[in-house]
Amino acid sequence: MAMSRRTWLIGGTAAGLVAAGLARPGDRGGAHDAYFAGLAKALAPLPAQPTLVIDRARLKANLAAIRQQARHPLRVVVKSLPSLGLIDAALADWRSDRAMVFNAPQLALVATERPAVKMLLGKPLPASAAAWVLDNVPAERRAPERIEWLVDSAERLAEYRALARAKNLPLRINLEIDVGLHRGGVEDEAALAPLLELIRGEPLLRFAGLMGYDAHLAAIPDLPGARSGAQAEAARRYAALLALARQRLGPPAGPWTLNAAGSPTFHLHDASSSANELSVGSAAVKPADFDKPSLAALQPAAFIATPVLKDLGDFRLPRGVEWIAGAARAWDVNQRRAFAMHGGHWLADPASPPGVQPSGLYGPSSNQQVLVASPSTALKPGDWLFLRPRQSEAVLLQFGDLVVVDEGRIVDRWPVFPASA
Ligand SMILES: Cc1ncc(COP(=O)(O)O)c(C=O)c1O
Repeated sequence: MAMSRRTWLIGGTAAGLVAAGLARPGDRGGAHDAYFAGLAKALAPLPAQPTLVIDRARLKANLAAIRQQARHPLRVVVKSLPSLGLIDAALADWRSDRAMVFNAPQLALVATERPAVKMLLGKPLPASAAAWVLDNVPAERRAPERIEWLVDSAERLAEYRALARAKNLPLRINLEIDVGLHRGGVEDEAALAPLLELIRGEPLLRFAGLMGYDAHLAAIPDLPGARSGAQAEAARRYAALLALARQRLGPPAGPWTLNAAGSPTFHLHDASSSANELSVGSAAVKPADFDKPSLAALQPAAFIATPVLKDLGDFRLPRGVEWIAGAARAWDVNQRRAFAMHGGHWLADPASPPGVQPSGLYGPSSNQQVLVASPSTALKPGDWLFLRPRQSEAVLLQFGDLVVVDEGRIVDRWPVFPASA
């Protein structure tokens, strides 16, 4: 017997309701767990305003785990740990005197404040920025052997040669090689050869080594063969370009710097790697973008703590579209209540208490962001909320001194670098 149109409609509606019922969000609300309750207690003496908290015990454990996992000496990525406190902790645990710097102000700062540290640029600066460093850092702090300038092309090398000649100053040159990331650098022997010749022909330029960043190896999908193929190709390119450098320049007077990797890829470099040192920064505090299987042993060690400013009661949208919030409240228990927090719109996501989230309906705000939550989330004005940064390099610079917590209390404050990009 053919089903009537009415039967279809009733059946369809019932099925729709069942499906909707299944998809309806459950209550994700709750209170801080013991870890965040402990952090909140430690922060009680602070004025309630957005604060970047470093968990020192977790930082130390992360640094030790990275050291144990790394098969080569480590170089600290300064931009990802933009505070001398963090950098010192990493240098000490890793027994390292090497830093990777990414702009002239941070280079000048590290050069001045940490005279024992040797620096490699992590990106090729315009020669004018290098000139600024040479002009602004006292000569005894920027001795030529302390800085390896990164160069990616013949044009830039010619600029650095002109700079060296103009200042009559030897410059150490590290060449950026493209091992597959395709973010610049020398890709093959034909492109490398003229750079090596240029260095050989200029007594003021000293070849210091190679830098081949390989972040793509952790980002490409793990389709059969895709990742392992890219890894083999990266290794092959590094080895081929190094072989050419050895052939053209002869045996080095001192060891070359053969840099590779970053937080998501340092574990890929074993004894067979051409690299003889590995760069790591972010993993030490493990922002959310670094939730990778290879870093599973590490724990998040940096959080934004910010106070709840207002309990807004029922979640409401502005006059005129209030009904939309009504539908959201009725549908999703996790959108039933609303709070305003102090600040917001950071590159960070709520971490605790559970179930608190930025409203997807109420626009973001850097001033007072509206968050929604379930009624089972116990929060009142003045309580601390915690957010986890997605990355460290920009977020850590936004809150003034880092507040260092250990064993349930504030143990230190670490100034951050002046903002720079
Ligand atoms: C050249 C280079 N090396 C290494 C890194 C790794 O830094 P992190 O360990 O913070 O991911 C970066 C990050 O951008 C980089 O650009």
